[in-house]
Amino acid sequence: MSVHGKVRKITTHVLRDMKKNNEKIAMLTAYDYSIAKILDGAGIDILLVGDSASNVMAGHETTLPITLDQMIYHAQSVVRAVDRALIVVDLPFGSYQGDSKTALESAVRIMKESGAHSVKMEGGIEIKESVERILSAGIPVMAHLGLTPQAIYKFGTYSVRAKGEEEAKRLREDALLMEDLGCFALVLEKIPAKLGKEVSESLSIPTIGIGAGPDTDGQVLVVHDMLGITKDFHPRFLRRYLDLSQEINGAVQQYINDVRSGDFPNDKEQY
Ligand code: KIV
Repeated sequence: MSVHGKVRKITTHVLRDMKKNNEKIAMLTAYDYSIAKILDGAGIDILLVGDSASNVMAGHETTLPITLDQMIYHAQSVVRAVDRALIVVDLPFGSYQGDSKTALESAVRIMKESGAHSVKMEGGIEIKESVERILSAGIPVMAHLGLTPQAIYKFGTYSVRAKGEEEAKRLREDALLMEDLGCFALVLEKIPAKLGKEVSESLSIPTIGIGAGPDTDGQVLVVHDMLGITKDFHPRFLRRYLDLSQEINGAVQQYINDVRSGDFPNDKEQY
């Protein structure tokens, strides 16, 4: 809250100041109104409408199938819930890797139709023109390097990226390029902690890590993973704060028992 009792909204400028002041940035994914409202109320800085919705909301094995229309639907739901957090929306696979005109059209649709504040794009020099064109339209871009799940069929596995010097050098160059182009922040996914620290120190824009060690300027997790809604995903970087899957299972079993036994509804739960 500000001194006037108004919510201080998180902007790209606030994030840059947070980095300058050594304040860590907390980011989580959100895909729907109800969860986004809880996360925003709890004080999260950035909400990412991630294309991980393809996995955790739709049950696909990868992030590739989700469409631009589906991303816009999720983003609209999140935007309706949020007072404070900066909302970033993933440009889905296929909506920006071709020509930069298509990339701009995709980003404009997200901004116009959802009311979100920015977009995220996976990749380095190979998407330079698309990033430039989107930025030139005044749309803030968050970059994403390291393990970029939209390229999973190129990588072959979800294992740690940039362990070797050649890939690490390319990542350092791509990170500097994204800052030079004007991106407001950079996600670093699943890279050695030492490289996460080095890249974060070399940039003036904030870095947000997921499996990139403790020295990035902020951290992001998929909300379904950190709340324990997903069960079979155990990467080393993931800290589970709840076992919601078990909690929900217990509550639902209790409900089933109550319905079957006639205990629900009771005298006070009827008209
Ligand atoms: O889609 C997503 O959830 C992401 C985060 C893992 C950074 O891109």
